[in-house]
Amino acid sequence: MAATLVRTGRPCPAAGRVPAAIAPRPWGLRRTRDTVRPVKAGNATLSSYGTTIFEAMSGLARQHAAVNLGQGFPDDRGPLEVRNAAAAYVVDGHNQYPPMMGMAALRQAVAAHDRRFYGLDVDWQTEVLVTSGATEALLDCFLGLLDAGDEVVLLEPAYDTYAPVIRRLGAVPRSVRLVPPAWSLPRDELAATFTPRTKLLVLNSPMNPSGKVFTHDELGFLASLVERHDAFAVCDEVYEHLVFGGARHTPLMTLPGMRGRVARIGSAGKTFSLTGWKVGYITAPPAMLRPITKAHQFVTFTTPPNLQHAVALGLGLDDAYFHGLGSALARSRDRLAAGLAALDVPLLPCDGTYFLVLDVSRWLRPDEDDAAFCQRLVVEAGVVLIPMSAFYEAGPPRHLVRACFCKEDATIDAALQRLHAWAARPG
Ligand SMILES: Cc1ncc(COP(=O)(O)O)c(C=O)c1O
Repeated sequence: MAATLVRTGRPCPAAGRVPAAIAPRPWGLRRTRDTVRPVKAGNATLSSYGTTIFEAMSGLARQHAAVNLGQGFPDDRGPLEVRNAAAAYVVDGHNQYPPMMGMAALRQAVAAHDRRFYGLDVDWQTEVLVTSGATEALLDCFLGLLDAGDEVVLLEPAYDTYAPVIRRLGAVPRSVRLVPPAWSLPRDELAATFTPRTKLLVLNSPMNPSGKVFTHDELGFLASLVERHDAFAVCDEVYEHLVFGGARHTPLMTLPGMRGRVARIGSAGKTFSLTGWKVGYITAPPAMLRPITKAHQFVTFTTPPNLQHAVALGLGLDDAYFHGLGSALARSRDRLAAGLAALDVPLLPCDGTYFLVLDVSRWLRPDEDDAAFCQRLVVEAGVVLIPMSAFYEAGPPRHLVRACFCKEDATIDAALQRLHAWAARPG
């Protein structure tokens, strides 16, 4: 019998049939023909947020058999040797709880990766933690570092998990908007947003959804604010290897004064095109990592050993693999950009990530916003894009949408063909 949870306002009759000690009071349940109702509501902060836009739009894509350029998952199946290593470990390996901090092989591989790509000197025993995806890494950082009332500076457009979790902890997100089309830093506003109560800056570079890769000069400005206010930075660098052309990813951690203040987060999901694996890693100085690890031990405690084993192998792949990742994606970006340019849609600059931002002003109906436009586009054109307003807490721009290009040529071409047919339709 399907069960939905609804409020009853009285104790559950069924509760009387279980021992009083474990009866769900005052969370009484009422079972109706097809519903089970709790007495009290869930957490007010989280209940105030809807289902994520990615889940909602992917659902719409299925419903309308649309080409999905919404959610950021690649068509690429990931390196075969990494997938084989995971499969072999399931059969031959030790499939019990791995160490809480992560398997030694992966922690050593993360430290070696940090040295190889960024010249960082990392102690794998005290400065690396393996998590179940960057999502858990972010949660652990927020849980481990924040107290109620602490302020957290966010840069919008911001990945949609930051603010709800920060609010849920009783901390206060202070959002500053980057200015399109170049997504430049409003430096005076940023400087004014940092206060003595600022505990953290959250920096996502390369940045989802804007495709911005922060320059050395911008990072220097942010570092000076973090240092001046004696704050920490949590750097979400999941797209670290997905940068294009002349752009270079520089971890904030490598800037003077930042080594002792930054937690740097990576994700095997992005680095190996295996987003379903959910293997993440944090590099942070011991004094920061200790409270973050306390959170991890109460959240997931550990991450599947076969995936850790395989990701350790992956991080040791040769340079050609890592460079190839960026160049393959740059080709896909260019393919999508060329097709969109032919539609006369202005595109914003994109130096990294999976995402290209389009200015759809010319397609909006009077009073239509980006979200309504994206819903209409699924129905009329059979193409899913993501409204940029989903990445703002309040008062977002209403004319920008995000398209994901980490797709096979055939998928990109199918989306373009549909958009061209839709744009050419009469009326
Ligand atoms: C900016 C950003 N951070 C974190 C994540 C989550 O990464 P993971 O899948 O490793 O949890 C994503 C996934 O899309 C992302 O775009």
